[in-house]
Amino acid sequence: MKTLITGGAGNLACQYTHLLPPDHEILLVDIADTPVAPVREGTRFEQGDLCDREGLFALIDREKPDRVLHLASLLSGSTEMNRTLGWQINATAGFDLLEACHASGVGRVLFPSSLAVWGGDLPDPMPEDQETWPDGLYGVTKVAVERLGHYYHSKHGLDFRAVRLPIIISPYAPQGAASAYASHAFVECAQGRPFRFKVRPDTRVSMMYVKDALGAFSLLLEADPDHLTRRVYNIQAIAPDGEELLQMVKQVLPDSDIDFDPDPEVADLIHSWPGVIRDESARQDWGWSSEWNLESLATDILKEVS
Ligand SMILES: NC(=O)c1ccc[n+]([C@@H]2O[C@H](COP(=O)([O-])OP(=O)(O)OC[C@H]3O[C@@H](n4cnc5c(N)ncnc54)[C@H](O)[C@@H]3O)[C@@H](O)[C@H]2O)c1
Repeated sequence: MKTLITGGAGNLACQYTHLLPPDHEILLVDIADTPVAPVREGTRFEQGDLCDREGLFALIDREKPDRVLHLASLLSGSTEMNRTLGWQINATAGFDLLEACHASGVGRVLFPSSLAVWGGDLPDPMPEDQETWPDGLYGVTKVAVERLGHYYHSKHGLDFRAVRLPIIISPYAPQGAASAYASHAFVECAQGRPFRFKVRPDTRVSMMYVKDALGAFSLLLEADPDHLTRRVYNIQAIAPDGEELLQMVKQVLPDSDIDFDPDPEVADLIHSWPGVIRDESARQDWGWSSEWNLESLATDILKEVS
């Protein structure tokens, strides 16, 4: 079994390698030259730009992976700051990747979509089939790839599976990603640095510990195709507001210098994302359930950081 992971130098890709069995071949591909976190022994790494269409087709054709995890992306803030590049990486390269996988007969493609596909006034809890009208361009690109995946499955039989991740709390969250404020709060304070939330104390958004998210990747990848009733699944774990996060950081790191200094643009975008998201289909179809609450993840992430 061979798995190719795009965005392979990133936060989720590196941590996911440790969940794959030792006899499983892994190839990470990324425009960056070095993985941000330790990877499983024996993992191959190759530098490459997914926006190089010819290079991408040649890579998929040469490697003929059984599975592709398509994680390469600009995140929300960077996409908003550089819309053309954001569209090229997130949407155009997403289309090229699905086309290349179809052309080379790749068995299965996993795509992490995002809670950023929703926007506007959202009910809380939010129903599973809430319409996807994102406020930010990053969310627009995620909707585009969800729809493309649905098309490649229904018209061409590609086994495309997507999971809409909430904000992931991780020790390796990308620097500069404003949406990674919960991760940065724990990591910065654990290292004795001050931290200021750019969101407001009452901003309540769906979040999840990285170990839950990686477990969801494994469950969805391994799920029996006959049990899947949809191509795109929601998953839910916790929904703390800014104040609850601040109090949890203070509980585990009492000397923290942590406070709020909201940035209106960041705060408004994140405030447009949902709190509690209904996820019955993921529970029924492939046995999804969250194992980490805010207190247990806070203790665990400090162990990881230290
Ligand atoms: N972390 C979260 O909170 C979160 C939430 C929802 C969805 N997601 C999605 O999960 C995936 C992984 O997220 P992450 O947290 O690991 O982010 P990350 O930024 O750590 O990883 C993304 C990787 O993509 C690479 N990349 C960017 N442009 C590229 C290009 N042109 N060619 C090749 N590689 C390129 C980057 O170098 C980076 O290593 C992304 O698709 C992201 O949108 C993440």
